Amino acid sequence: MKALILSGGKGTRLRPLTYTGAKQLVPVANKPILWYGIESIVAAGITDIGIIISPETGEEIQEVTGNGDRFGANITYIPQDHPLGLAHAVKIAQPFLGDAPFIMYLGDNLIQDDLKPFLSKFESQDLDGLILLRSVSNPSAFGVAKVDQNGRVLQLVEKPKVPPSNLALVGVYFFNTVIHHAIASIVPSERGELEITDAIQALIDQQKKVESVQLNGWWLDTGKKDDLLEANRIILDTDLETKKGGEIDSKSQIIGRVNIGEGSKIVNSTVRGPVIIGENCHIENCFIGPYTSVGNKVTLIDADIEHSVLLEGAQILEIHQRIVDSLIGRRAKLEMAHQRPKALQFMIGDDTHIELV
Ligand code: G1P
Repeated sequence: MKALILSGGKGTRLRPLTYTGAKQLVPVANKPILWYGIESIVAAGITDIGIIISPETGEEIQEVTGNGDRFGANITYIPQDHPLGLAHAVKIAQPFLGDAPFIMYLGDNLIQDDLKPFLSKFESQDLDGLILLRSVSNPSAFGVAKVDQNGRVLQLVEKPKVPPSNLALVGVYFFNTVIHHAIASIVPSERGELEITDAIQALIDQQKKVESVQLNGWWLDTGKKDDLLEANRIILDTDLETKKGGEIDSKSQIIGRVNIGEGSKIVNSTVRGPVIIGENCHIENCFIGPYTSVGNKVTLIDADIEHSVLLEGAQILEIHQRIVDSLIGRRAKLEMAHQRPKALQFMIGDDTHIELV
């Protein structure tokens, strides 16, 4: 069994962050989204992992993620020159996959469930394909499945205007080698991509054994800000371990589950968990509220922030209004200027979204 993680794409819905970085590397609880997928694949006992990368972000993904040693895995990077679809990615990964059955995992998806029970079902029932489904309120945004009462898949449609059910295709799939023949038989969709959904439909049409399981736990497709904040909230809620690295002065209060990295300084501040603070941060006269992840080397002075994600090197200085539900990019700086006239002054990147209330 091998694994193929798809980590290309442009990440348009997470702009401007994705102008300068891969969407799969945006951190959730200070860890790149992509790494959660790798870790859960390794936890299921699969260590031979191929990662599809794009020309825009491939180098950064390789640099940050490495050869797999840190996960106890062996990672092969597979460049995809153009974003021609998920099934196209499988096609170009054929030399890596060979005759092995494999898990295909979309690098911006996060699921709570362990992969092991799904893998056991796929293997013990000798399936040609196993898909994961989750009921959603907006099925038209996803691939959608119609299944019979035993979970056998009857029909799949990609982003249908009139969805046949509310069961969305989660971005984690199990296939054996017959998927390669199915991919060879499909043509690009209206959006010009070879859709994996169409390839699975081709398997169904050929009477292959394609089954589904519905997820019990949460599933997050982290492509958008609010989904990312929700993923951050859930991971901090369920996985965060308490650690008090760095220096905390006597005027500071650390309440609940808080993880503070080495070299960070907390001065005259209140931190109410769950909160993770990276390494070498400076936090002074602040309130950091629940569900906040602060990356490495962040400076916060006279700031009040909660339910937010701050990336490495961000600075918030003397903002006397609470900041909530925010995603702040690397080295972004938000500060109070003291000159007159009192006015808002901005230098904001393309596609930035700011709400002043
Ligand atoms: C892709 C798949 C879709 C699936 C979704 C899950 O959509 O095509 O079937 O439901 O991932 O994240 P995309 O992210 O390419 O819009």
